[in-house]
Amino acid sequence: MSSEVIGREVKRRRTFAIISHPDAGKSTMTEALALHARMISEAGAVHGKGGRRSTVSDWMEMEKARGISVSSTALQFKYAATGDDPDLPHVINLVDTPGHSDFSEDTYRVLTAVDAAVMLIDAAKGLEPQTLKLFQVCRHRGIPVITVVNKWDRPGQTPLELIDEISERIGLIPTPLYVPVGIAGDYRGLLDRRTGEYIKFTRTAGGAKVAPESILDADTARDTEGAAWVAASEESELLGELGQDHDQEMFLAGQTSPMIFTSAMLNFGVRQLLEALVEFAPPPRGRVAIDDSTREVADPFSAVVFKVQAGMDSSHRDRLAYMRIVSGQFERGMVVSHAQTGKPFATKYAQAVFGRDRATVDTAYPGDVVGLVNAMALAPGDTLYLDPKVQYPPIPSFAPEHFSSLRVTTADKYKQFRKAIDQLDAEGVVQVLRNDLRGDASPVLAAVGPMQFEVVTARMKAEFNVDTVIEPLGYALARRTDEASAPELNRQRGVEVFTRTDGAILALFSDKWRLQYIEKEHKDLLLEPLVAAAD
Ligand code: G4P
Repeated sequence: MSSEVIGREVKRRRTFAIISHPDAGKSTMTEALALHARMISEAGAVHGKGGRRSTVSDWMEMEKARGISVSSTALQFKYAATGDDPDLPHVINLVDTPGHSDFSEDTYRVLTAVDAAVMLIDAAKGLEPQTLKLFQVCRHRGIPVITVVNKWDRPGQTPLELIDEISERIGLIPTPLYVPVGIAGDYRGLLDRRTGEYIKFTRTAGGAKVAPESILDADTARDTEGAAWVAASEESELLGELGQDHDQEMFLAGQTSPMIFTSAMLNFGVRQLLEALVEFAPPPRGRVAIDDSTREVADPFSAVVFKVQAGMDSSHRDRLAYMRIVSGQFERGMVVSHAQTGKPFATKYAQAVFGRDRATVDTAYPGDVVGLVNAMALAPGDTLYLDPKVQYPPIPSFAPEHFSSLRVTTADKYKQFRKAIDQLDAEGVVQVLRNDLRGDASPVLAAVGPMQFEVVTARMKAEFNVDTVIEPLGYALARRTDEASAPELNRQRGVEVFTRTDGAILALFSDKWRLQYIEKEHKDLLLEPLVAAAD
């Protein structure tokens, strides 16, 4: 297989995630993007609303019923952007992120698999807590961000207010590619800041179809829209004077963010978002390995597992590992090596998974996400490769802030309980801590958010038929320590030392005052902060 083919495939790929606060419109936007790419013929398929068949994402529906999104997966679609050869359109990979902040560790893992992020904001609400948290993760990882102000069909803030809020609160300078014509709640179209033209949208019934666009020149736009056009032109000029025009280098450096105004519900501005992704979001690039060498995209196959998941769907009770391809061409059936164990891994059951729909993947390229079925040996952060060997850095675990012990209440289920714990641990659902004192019968679970515990008990019951109870422990924070410091720490009141499955030795403290006191009294002890969720 030639590097020419890989080069061509990489160039046309864009892999991104949408980061947003729940309810900003992520599902609606996902659906609208797929609609534009003609993947589904009518919007509504993702939600399965209005009696239409739910083709794409039943699990989303299921999670919605619980008000949370716990799983993640990837949607791939082709999009012929302006100037594309229709036979060689762009290939867009949209990787889903969990919506609830309790799953920020999952989200962090997902964000290691993308090259760009779309920060979706509700026009009326502006930046919300979860958006902020996820944005910090993007910044931490150097992921360029495109800003989308959604729900422009509803009353909301002005473009300048939103721009100010984003610049002031997160130091990211929005560079609108378009200025909306019509205030929030009266969305008529967009002024294209680069061509000066007016893109006028026409509503379709219920927003179920791609909204027709007509392109008008500035004079015609002024005649048609009057004051709304004049206001948009003035805003555009002002932004130009402020230097808020798109700059590709600054965007890639995470300093500026191209901004787009949309109504995912009406399908307005969605094409513009796709065009921006194609034009500005970076294609897949090589990745630095633990030995500091870089595996380039055209090098032999390698991939990183970023998510392991089980029990998404009752008709497919299995375990899926999602890998993002980093280099080379993937072909189903290939036997690759698992860097962590040195063992071969057969990829006979490679699938693209979105909701209930699964399609066999025969070939995939850098940037693509492939689900491997029954991947019992794989854990998030693992590397798969074809020779020469490569191993990518592990995905850091977050600093847990919630600690509970888990006790089995069903008699005679101890074996299943242990199996279940090992599996949930390997999937990264929670961190599992153990020490000699407590033994193995009731391990301590550590989580970033308490909802992770609920997932554990629910899955224990649903998949292993084991009843368990969560008993909160009186610890509030953790520090990394070592063998040498452990005995002294264990002698302290309000402190307990554990070993995490990855071998890290963690000391748990009842509160920060206890920690501060011990730090002061025992300067020789190793007490290292862990990566915090918002770092
Ligand atoms: P999420 O995945 O980010 O949580 O958000 P989701 O797409 O489910 O959207 C949340 C709500 O916002 C939905 O309304 C959805 O229809 C609405 N929405 C999404 N995008 C737009 C938009 O561009 N304009 C307007 N006006 N509304 C939008 P809901 O009342 O919760 O559900 P439903 O009654 O539409 O089913």
